[in-house]
Amino acid sequence: MRVLGIETSCDETAAAVVRDGCVLSSVVASQTELHEQYGGVVPELASRAHLERIMPIVARSLADAGVAPREIEGIAVGNRPGLIGSLLVGVAAAKALAWSLSVPLIGVDHVHSHLFAGMLSGGGREAANIEFPALGLVVSGGHTSLYLVRSWTRLKRLGATIDDAMGEAFDKAAVILGLPFPGGPNLDTLAQTQGANDREVDLPVSRLGPDSLDFSFSGLKTAMLYEVRGVPGKIDAPPPMTDSRRVNLAASFQRAAVKAAIVKLERALERGARDAGDPYRAIIAGGGVTANSRLRRELSELAKKRGLPLVIPAMNLCVDNAAMIAGLGEVKLAAGERSGWDLAAAPTTGG
Ligand code: KG4
Ligand code: ZN
Repeated sequence: MRVLGIETSCDETAAAVVRDGCVLSSVVASQTELHEQYGGVVPELASRAHLERIMPIVARSLADAGVAPREIEGIAVGNRPGLIGSLLVGVAAAKALAWSLSVPLIGVDHVHSHLFAGMLSGGGREAANIEFPALGLVVSGGHTSLYLVRSWTRLKRLGATIDDAMGEAFDKAAVILGLPFPGGPNLDTLAQTQGANDREVDLPVSRLGPDSLDFSFSGLKTAMLYEVRGVPGKIDAPPPMTDSRRVNLAASFQRAAVKAAIVKLERALERGARDAGDPYRAIIAGGGVTANSRLRRELSELAKKRGLPLVIPAMNLCVDNAAMIAGLGEVKLAAGERSGWDLAAAPTTGG
């Protein structure tokens, strides 16, 4: 089935064509340069930019795929969660296209689609044989959640961050270290500097009690701030910020942040049968932070230790894109799911 995917939940305008799990095209127009001067995404500017770009981006994705509009058999759109004004642009475009082409429309949860991105890696369904139940981890700029994945149409959220998302913590730590926006990838690069000492400082890894599958990154972020600016009310000044201290602080932050994610995965794997009724048979990860070098390494070590397959996106499909929307949309359409013309955009995830 040839499915056109549309993604406008935050600051990327994206369209993609997927056929039978293969990515035929994936076009992403980033708005980074638009928001850079404000140090974060400005919702009103984002929706206006989506409005200007969406139809040319759709046209390019069709041209890149070599597919004519009348050959499209379904339209998938990320309709939640995200910035409401941004989502509305994608949903309106998807409805108009589906209506005019007389093809089914399907709304896709953006967070769920991040988990599906790993199924598209390598241009085919090589991960299609994974067995369920699987344990899913989504780590992005806006979301940090664990999922029990019973199938691609039955996901249950087991836990989520109670404050900052993991990517948000990376971005804020990067600002504290004086790195340019968006900070996550820059902090990762710095932390990989030859000779970096990831034990320069011992930053806190939040566990939130013995049984919780929720995450918290705000304490880690504050601890990082104190390392750089000093602890309020204390006379001792922090060590001077030399180049090597900056590298070591980046590496120490990365070590603690990645550990916070791994600790919760291990806990969920231990609980296995209690949540899933069965032991987990695979680990699935997705979202912008799965591009992080240390997280990728530790995830594959964990999967190997547990003897489980790891499904993780190719680097270009970690961050927001429309191929993951089209891919999951195709699976949902094949399972008989359809959205009505009353499909709404929603700021929150469906669960
Ligand atoms: O999935 P995504 O594009 O957007 C959301 O749905 O939120 O994720 C973007 C996030 C940003 O916070 C960015 O800094 C982070 O992913 N990110 C990284 C890396 N690459 C992207 N964080 C750490 N290391 C990276 N290599
Ligand atoms: Zn995302």
